[in-house]
Amino acid sequence: VNNIPTASLLDREAVLQWLKANVPKPRISHILRVETYAIELARQHRLDIDATAKAAFLHDLAKYFSPERLLTMAQQEGLPIDSVEERDPRLLHAEVSAIVARDEFKIQDTEILDAIRNHTLGRSPMSPISCVVFLADSLEPGRGDHANLNRIRKVSKSNLYEAVGLTCDRTLHQLIDCQMPIHPRVILTRNWAIEAAKDLALR
Ligand SMILES: [Fe+2]
Ligand SMILES: [Fe+2]
Repeated sequence: VNNIPTASLLDREAVLQWLKANVPKPRISHILRVETYAIELARQHRLDIDATAKAAFLHDLAKYFSPERLLTMAQQEGLPIDSVEERDPRLLHAEVSAIVARDEFKIQDTEILDAIRNHTLGRSPMSPISCVVFLADSLEPGRGDHANLNRIRKVSKSNLYEAVGLTCDRTLHQLIDCQMPIHPRVILTRNWAIEAAKDLALR
């Protein structure tokens, strides 16, 4: 323990207690599966496992905050809120989870905080750790066993960016099928990921 810098210590028990008070059980199981999946991906892509695991563990802290609370906290933080988020404040749970991780659990590492922020809509551009948490959130085994999902799981082992692009495609298809509004950031993430995937394949 002597060699671990204080900043990297996270009181896992304290977070679990907090989750038990603020998040229903099935969602905690999802969080733990995302953590496991993200660690696996981080290992495969030789990323910082500790940072990835923390971001995954903390990614859904605000998932069950009320829409009013999400809006208020985002406003207090000075975040720009667009019309899609205004209509569906649940989209803000990623941003607000990062606020809780920082204020409640003293996370200061911007890469961890960004990965929490980016887990729902992605970002153009985003770091490999952000890609891993974004992917683990939608690829963890609890998300099902469809052929398309399994294909993206396979791709994620070799090309994170390609998998991010395919995940955005899935989201867009689902939103179109349900005639739901599309947050423009998903499109920006997709366009960035497609290019980044090509660059990576050429390397
Ligand atoms: Fe989430
Ligand atoms: Fe999640």
